[in-house]
Amino acid sequence: MIENLNNLERTHSCGALRKENVGQRVTLMGWCARRRDFGPLTFIDLRDRDAITQIVVNQEKAEQAHAKAKEVRGEYVVAAIGEIVLRDENSINPKLATGEVEVQASEIIILNDARPLPFQLDASDNTLASEDLRLKYRYLDLRRSQLQANLRLRHRMILEINRYMDEQGFTHIETPNLIKSTPEGARDYIVPSRVQPGKFFALPQSPQIFKQICMIAGMDKYYQIARCFRDEDLRADRQPEFSQLDVEMSFATTDQIYRLVEGLFARIFKLIGVELQTPFPRFTFAEMMRRFGSDKPDLRIEGMELQDFSEALAETTFAPYASVLSAKGEIKGLVVGGGATMSRKVLDELQEFAKRYGASALAWIKLGDEVTSSLLKALGHDTVVDLAGIAGAQKGDAVLIVAAKSDVVAASLGALRNEIAKREKLIPEGVYAPLWVTEFPMFEYHEDDDRYYSMHHPFTSPMDEDVPVFERAVNGETELFGQIRAKAYDAVINGVEVAGGSIRIHRRDVQALVFKALGMTEEMARARFGFFLDALAYGTPPHGGIASGIERTLMVLVPTENIRDVMAFPKTASAQDLMIDAPGEVDQKQLAELHLKIVE
Ligand code: AMO
Repeated sequence: MIENLNNLERTHSCGALRKENVGQRVTLMGWCARRRDFGPLTFIDLRDRDAITQIVVNQEKAEQAHAKAKEVRGEYVVAAIGEIVLRDENSINPKLATGEVEVQASEIIILNDARPLPFQLDASDNTLASEDLRLKYRYLDLRRSQLQANLRLRHRMILEINRYMDEQGFTHIETPNLIKSTPEGARDYIVPSRVQPGKFFALPQSPQIFKQICMIAGMDKYYQIARCFRDEDLRADRQPEFSQLDVEMSFATTDQIYRLVEGLFARIFKLIGVELQTPFPRFTFAEMMRRFGSDKPDLRIEGMELQDFSEALAETTFAPYASVLSAKGEIKGLVVGGGATMSRKVLDELQEFAKRYGASALAWIKLGDEVTSSLLKALGHDTVVDLAGIAGAQKGDAVLIVAAKSDVVAASLGALRNEIAKREKLIPEGVYAPLWVTEFPMFEYHEDDDRYYSMHHPFTSPMDEDVPVFERAVNGETELFGQIRAKAYDAVINGVEVAGGSIRIHRRDVQALVFKALGMTEEMARARFGFFLDALAYGTPPHGGIASGIERTLMVLVPTENIRDVMAFPKTASAQDLMIDAPGEVDQKQLAELHLKIVE
């Protein structure tokens, strides 16, 4: 029978009680995590967001309470009133903070019942129900202590961010969500306007333009915990809707921004008891790509840097390699320490892994008692031994080799480095390796539509040294676009891009030139960004900023590789909310009001 709470108040949480409380009369409330019956004794593990306290109900001492306790099922909501007693020596549970005591209940109140659960809550990580099922019943999944802890850490991190940014003189300013497109390289989520037929808002991919306008407006130091919306292909570390700590500063140098962010991360990491070393080392994008094939290398992994075989194989007659080189591709590899013992099966798995990044094959050399290699026939014993020597491989090691276009070589070897480190358990726990990646290319070439795009976003300033080349590129020498570097930077920790930003263009003429470089005519630029070009013309201070992914940072702190573990209500990989079943259909009336028609 379900009873009322009336005026009953909790005295303690289910994680609060210790030996010192023995003898006190307490009232606890929570969920029944487990009930066990031993004849006249019934035990209830009562759980709330804090922890679990064992309730014991003795038929001889409290007959009515005992009868009620026997009605209690999993996840029933229960209040227990009673006295704190020490547990018997042999029933002490060292795994529970409250494990030395229990509540000897004199009264049990059933506040609500619960249906049998669709899945087990207290399963260990590898016996968890499928994620889709858990997302459908997210309110149950969130009862798990790990997710509870993650969300509380998120709360404490955001508190710390707000404190720090306030101390540093920043003002929290909210920018609108119903706006025009602010490009960050993804598609927009759009919202139809009812009052302006045929017109649409776009949800912000970031508050980028608004925060720059705050600088033009003289706000000087802006920040916001901002919600961003991006319709892009999802991965384990991406969500269509996520949060950023978004920052912008007038008269900012890159050094000032680095110091600000380093100070912030040092504070955030204190929350998990870690002293983060500052300043972070700085590396250029070009160096990171050359050494690790990645602009977010995990520097906890020692070595396994990319080795270039292109020159050594310049004269090769092996057709696949010769054709890669003549098409300006590269042949690179990395050394796996002790890898000579890798089995054929493992090598095949690694090859399949490399193929996901576009590699057509993964060649290997093993320096075992004898030298074996998938390239022996093609290149001959001596060349294979030479390559191993160039790579610096020792007896007992293996060398893995990819030949392809340079972006495929980088992507596949960069990913292999992480994959092998994970498989071989080469990543030390409790170590944090932050770095800045600087001097990103201003533009990147997209083969599919044969044009250049901004690598960061179109408001990023070119490096002063590269402005003359930029002007030449805009005036026709388009092959130079790939060489221009930007004042853009990312902060990376343990292989996760936790923040990215840039010094902005503050001159109207330079901004107009970038729009032109991106293939916009003057009319197109005016139609999309006319308001912004105008604003730039009214006394814009030099400025710059950065945005840090709240979820990405939490993924490093927890740590977890699944972004959904650090959000209360995440979406699936196909951008759906399975709990509320969104996106959903709307009725004809609503469509008509919005002047919309669905075309099959
Ligand atoms: P950027 O696009 O690099 O920069 O984003 C900044 C940071 O936000 C996080 N992030 C994401 N987190 C979860 N899901 C996503 N889909 C996602 N996309 C990005 C990352 C990333 O480093 N306006 C610029 C910032 C600036 O120039 O100041 C911007 O948004 O941690």
